[in-house]
Formats: sequence, C-alpha cells, structure tokens
Amino acid sequence: MKKIFKALVLPVALSMAGFMGTAQAQSPVVIKFAHVVADSTPKGKGALLFKQKAEERLGDKVKVEVYSNSSLYGDGQEMDALLSGDVQLLAPSLAKFEHFQKKIQIFDLPFLFEDIDALDRFQQSEAGQSLLKSMEDKNITGLTYWHNGMKQLSANQPLRVPRDARGLRFRVQASNVLEEQFKALRANPRKIAFAEVYQSLQTGVVNGAENPYSNIYSQKMHEVQKYITESNHGLIDYMVITNTKFWNGLDSDVRTALEDVLKEVTVEVNKMAKELNDGDKQNILNAGTTEIITLTPEEREQWREAVQPVWKKFEGEIGADLIQAAVDANKIDANKK
Ligand code: LMR
Repeated sequence: MKKIFKALVLPVALSMAGFMGTAQAQSPVVIKFAHVVADSTPKGKGALLFKQKAEERLGDKVKVEVYSNSSLYGDGQEMDALLSGDVQLLAPSLAKFEHFQKKIQIFDLPFLFEDIDALDRFQQSEAGQSLLKSMEDKNITGLTYWHNGMKQLSANQPLRVPRDARGLRFRVQASNVLEEQFKALRANPRKIAFAEVYQSLQTGVVNGAENPYSNIYSQKMHEVQKYITESNHGLIDYMVITNTKFWNGLDSDVRTALEDVLKEVTVEVNKMAKELNDGDKQNILNAGTTEIITLTPEEREQWREAVQPVWKKFEGEIGADLIQAAVDANKIDANKK
C-alpha cells in the first residue's frame, strides 16, 4: 500500500504543489522583467529602478532579473513568454495589446491626446484604471502605466504636409490602428519588430518610422533618418503587466511590497520621461545627422485632418464613450468633474 502511495499519489501531490505555488516554491522568488528598449530610456531606467528598490526592500525574498533590448524575448514572443511563466514582468507599448483587449487600441488613435499630461489624466480616471484589470480573464494583470513620450515622424525626405508621406513605406508596431493611420496618408505601413527597425531603415526595407526621441536616439535611428518632423501625433506609453496567476500566488506581504515599489517607480519614470526625451532631442541635434522640422499650426492641422477618419474606423471596437472620456481628458479639470 505504501509503495502504491509513493508511486501514484506522491508525484501528483508534488506536481500540484509545484503548479499551485510556483511563485513560492523557490526562495528567493525570481522575477524576470524583459523589455525591448535600451537601459537609457524611461522604460529601461524604470525596470532597473524596480530591481534596485525591490531587492533593497525584500532582501532575500525576491531577485529581479532585467533583460533589456529584446535580449531575452522580443516583440511577438514576450506575451507568450509571460503567459507560459517564462517571464513575470513586461512593459509592452500600449500599441501591442490588440489581441487581448481591443479597447486598449484607444491609445493609438492619432491626435487624441494633446500631451502626456492629458494622457496621464485619462489613465488615472476610472476608465483608464479599469483597462488595467480588463485582461484578467486572459491571465494578464496590468499593474501600472509608464510614460515614454510623444511620437515624431522620421524619414529620409522632409515631411511637412500629409502628401509628402504618400507612397513611402513606414514601419509600424503590431497595431491595426497604426496601420490604418499610414493608409489614411496613402503610405504603406509595415509591421516590424522593434529590434529590427534600425536595420530596416538602414537597408531601405522601410523609408520612415514614428517614435519618441528617446527610442530614436537610443537605437541610433537618427543615423539612418535625415529628417524628423516634430508632429507629436501620437504617443508611446506602456502598461506594466504580470501573469495574473503568478501575481496572485505571491505571499501577500511580498505582493504588497512589490506594488508599493511599483508605485514609487511609476512616479520616478513619469517624472523623468519628458526630461529624457528632451535630452535625446538635443543629442540628435548635436549629432548633426538629422534636421528636425517644426510644423506651423496650419501644417499640423493638415496631418490631423488626414488621419481623422481612423477614429471612426475603430469606434466600434474601442467604444464611443471611451473615446469621449479620452477627449475630455484634454481639459485640465477633467478629473475634478
Ligand atoms: C516600438 O516597437 O516602437 C515600441 O513599442 C518600443 C518600446 O517599447 O518603446
């Protein structure tokens, strides 16, 4: 009987303990945090600050391993890795969630948010916060939002008005909204993983791209783009996400401490994002490789009008109410209502 117990019941019991308590089975708990950008960017610095603070606070209970620059998983692999438990934290751009939550496509609508402060007001509103919890049925929990910056258009020819983009090939993130944005300009969008953007620009697979200054400079894209149009037409921002089962399986004191750390790091990241982007704009100017084109209000208005039909195309998937809530966030007193 004893033998039968050992042969049949014990392995099952052990594997169940392993499954249910994955997070607590090992000590310290290892948290792998993978992302695709450089350590010098807002997200890169945020991940390192999270490691530093979490390890300071939780002593030998938690070890955080940060993998930057797509060194562990890149676009197209990192979500699967999170779901299978191979990484525990990611901070994908909000443009990369359409397979899990269509409403998150709102962040890609061109010319929706006037600036990062308006975006922040929307994210802190009830509607914005509810998006963090909207993928738990798919085992993804959003923990917080981190900012990067407004996107600028880049190319090897000057882009002043929408017709300048006609016929050019632009790299986009894996987002149908961004694809439609370039189609509205009668340009040709190509979905390409972030790690391949520099090479795609260098070899002419694409002629242009859209990015905040911090990503352009840290990936050396300015070296292969002669012009940047300061269009501020959209944004790159992140949701820090975890595997819901993993997070809920943590000891509650560890989970609470990590949530506190994330709150502090969010404040820091969001404070330094603008400064880092302004600094990298200056670094690009100093490099002397690229002309930065400033649009007149009338020119910028032409771009807005050209891509405006994209909003209607996605209104059904995103929801008119949600879009209105985001529009309202452009008013300073939106949160006071
Ligand atoms: C991109 O693919 O351009 C961005 O999502 C990269 C990033 O994480 O900022």
